[in-house]
Amino acid sequence: MIKKGIILAGGHGTRMSPLTKAVNKQLLPIYDKPLIYYPLSILMLAKIKDILIIINKGQLNQYKKLLPNGDNLGIKITYKEQSYPKGLPDAFILGDNFIGKNNVALILGDNFFYGQSLSKTLLNCVKLKNGAKVLLHKVSKPELYGVAKIKSKNKIISIKEKPKKYFSDLAITGLYFFDKDVVKFSKQLKPSKRGELEITDLLNKYKKKHKLYADYIGRGGAWLDTGSIEDFYKTSAFVSAIENRQGFKISCIEEIALNNKWIGSKNIKSAIKFYGKCQYSEYLKKLI
Ligand code: TTP
Repeated sequence: MIKKGIILAGGHGTRMSPLTKAVNKQLLPIYDKPLIYYPLSILMLAKIKDILIIINKGQLNQYKKLLPNGDNLGIKITYKEQSYPKGLPDAFILGDNFIGKNNVALILGDNFFYGQSLSKTLLNCVKLKNGAKVLLHKVSKPELYGVAKIKSKNKIISIKEKPKKYFSDLAITGLYFFDKDVVKFSKQLKPSKRGELEITDLLNKYKKKHKLYADYIGRGGAWLDTGSIEDFYKTSAFVSAIENRQGFKISCIEEIALNNKWIGSKNIKSAIKFYGKCQYSEYLKKLI
């Protein structure tokens, strides 16, 4: 079972400037909660309790105001600062001590996942023992994403970054599961032309060993990448539509912790105190 997870929550946030000049993208709102709640909730749904959040230098105080150490969620949150965005695999170099000899999950801080059988898929993914696994999702514009070609349902035989000619319509989402070799492999990578370590290069190392696997979000599920201002509003509209129609919240981290039996009503009460008089607290009250 994978018991450790990393959220990559730094980055330039260039596409969202000036919003991201003073505030990190992951602290901006997707409808009624900060973006970081969404990837965090995904790791919690995968029953991962030991979480490293990688943030930009100088932003620790802001993050700690919101998510101090995980105590109130029954999990452990630690932070590591990245001096500048060196690429996604840098997460495993920075996370070397945190990972140790364990397998690990990585989720990008700006990725949104939602869907009926998602929890089941996640619990299946954390069973990974050897190799690497990525979550794929069918997209209508594959030229915008890293995409994968598969053999049988769960084996990836080839991947391409933003292919100009049609190659596959299965996009590689921002959620990955790796065995303990990931630290060693990441340290072997060389920066690409754009000066970053590339996740494609890391995945290719596993592919060469015939150990790159796939799972799926499925057509009933949604995957949204909230990299641009337009994406932020679209994702907010999606969350608002579902929450207001059905009356439950997407990615309420306290609710997930409660359902996982990691916390009890005492923690919910202290969360209500922490958030103060707001709609989110009203929702928490209803849980107990
Ligand atoms: P990106 O979408 O590559 O970049 P970004 O968020 O900095 O935005 P922009 O392209 O507009 O400049 O990053 C995906 C996620 O991973 C995002 O949440 C930021 C995070 N990230 C890091 O924390 N460190 C890194 O080195 C990189 C490359 C990304």
